[in-house]
Amino acid sequence: MGAVNSSKTQLAPDLGDMSKEDFRRLGHDLIDWIADYFEQIDERPVLAAMEPGDLRAKLPSTPPAQGEPMEKIIEDVDRLIVPALTHWCHPSFFAYFATSTSAPGILGELLTAAFDNKAMLWRTSPASTELEEVVLDWLRQMMGLDPGMSGIIYDTASVSSLHAIAAAREGVEKRIREEGMSGRPDLPLLRVYVSEHSHSSIEKAVITLGLGQRGLRKIPTDSKFRMDTRALAKAIAEDKRNGYLPFCIVATVGTTSTSSIDPVPEIVPIGEEHVMWLHVDAAYAGSAAIVPEFRDILAGCERADSIVTNPHKWLFTPFDLSVLYCRHMDLLKRAFSLVPEYLRTPEQEKVRSGSDYGIQLGRRFRALKLWMVMRYFGHEGLAARIREHCRLARLFASWIEQSPDWELMAPVPLALVCFRARKDSTEGAIDLDALNENIMHRVNASGRALLSHTRLNDKLTLRLSIGNIRTTEKHVRDIWELLNQQLQRQLRRTT
Ligand SMILES: Cc1ncc(COP(=O)(O)O)c(C=O)c1O
Repeated sequence: MGAVNSSKTQLAPDLGDMSKEDFRRLGHDLIDWIADYFEQIDERPVLAAMEPGDLRAKLPSTPPAQGEPMEKIIEDVDRLIVPALTHWCHPSFFAYFATSTSAPGILGELLTAAFDNKAMLWRTSPASTELEEVVLDWLRQMMGLDPGMSGIIYDTASVSSLHAIAAAREGVEKRIREEGMSGRPDLPLLRVYVSEHSHSSIEKAVITLGLGQRGLRKIPTDSKFRMDTRALAKAIAEDKRNGYLPFCIVATVGTTSTSSIDPVPEIVPIGEEHVMWLHVDAAYAGSAAIVPEFRDILAGCERADSIVTNPHKWLFTPFDLSVLYCRHMDLLKRAFSLVPEYLRTPEQEKVRSGSDYGIQLGRRFRALKLWMVMRYFGHEGLAARIREHCRLARLFASWIEQSPDWELMAPVPLALVCFRARKDSTEGAIDLDALNENIMHRVNASGRALLSHTRLNDKLTLRLSIGNIRTTEKHVRDIWELLNQQLQRQLRRTT
């Protein structure tokens, strides 16, 4: 990749920042460098080909006493850092939930870094505060969410869900903000309900909020990995009889292992009957609701209390940007607002201050990149890309279904395929878990693609997730070929 070639830049001056001439030249060069990176990304190994500690061993253990030329620093990025990257923007990155940034998003990040606003109060960044409100209202409309939902940006879904559960806890009216939870015989044990396929971030939030792991009850799922609502109703009734205070249900629209969608329309009345907060974790799948024909994945969510969705997952927005939509911003504010004298402003009663709604004081100007992504692609452009990813996933799933060697392990509602090599492909007794794990390791070690796995019905299952803006049918055909080659190779080895 072309290194930055401006040989005439200066070292840092004694005081003050880099000269504007150098900044201009280096900035242009760096954008060229990024453009080259994307142009040649296909040729790189997706997974960093290195051993733990390799990079550290190549870096000095003490900081530089004097400044160094920027060209040399960027050369080191090229030489040392890039080989130690796992390339999430590689079009054959199919692991976890495949995601990618996009050019307008990168330009937005660049501006955010340049403005460096700390948007804790309206006056410390009116643009951030007001653009966030506008952009989140646009996204709400695109997703078909209820106008009664108001949005706020956090960094990650883990943090969004933590805030939602904290607001739900505030809503139980037990003076937890004032008196805490420990040493209180008057306080029943609070409980949150999730399916056994919910993301670990919910359990972490429950731990962080001091509810303890016993404050979380995991509900079994049906054959399609969706929350069993009869079991949910039974569990809540049982817990109430045993003195618990059930206060929150977290449904998942797009679970991490399989992208299954909990039956929110059936969960809503259960929550309403017991006056519980319903939070929907749509961190991954929420973006798909902007595609008109997929909008029904959010059926029932018009009656939820809060929903999280991550534009940094499937809306081509650079990490990080997570959105929490909430119907009770007053409770969120009651849980978190604390305004010391030095943060009081004359307009505070008339405006929204981001720091009132979370644990952070300073907040990044994240709305800018999302605004730029939305304006550049438009609703239809974004929907077309998500629709194409779902088409590619269905295509891959159809090859699995037609093959005697492979089987689908879960339905494919969106752009994630769960599959594995099946018994018929093997002769005699063979450990299918080991076979599939070996295939995955071989594919990943080849550097040509990256897959991840999960365990379904106690079977090791491979996951192929399509969500990268650069992924095309060719990349999906390539991984299919690679998987079949690896399967044959593994079989030859075991027979
Ligand atoms: C369903 C679901 N919820 C939450 C998360 C956590 O996301 P984040 O990394 O933004 O905290 C994930 C991550 O993949 C997820 O799949």
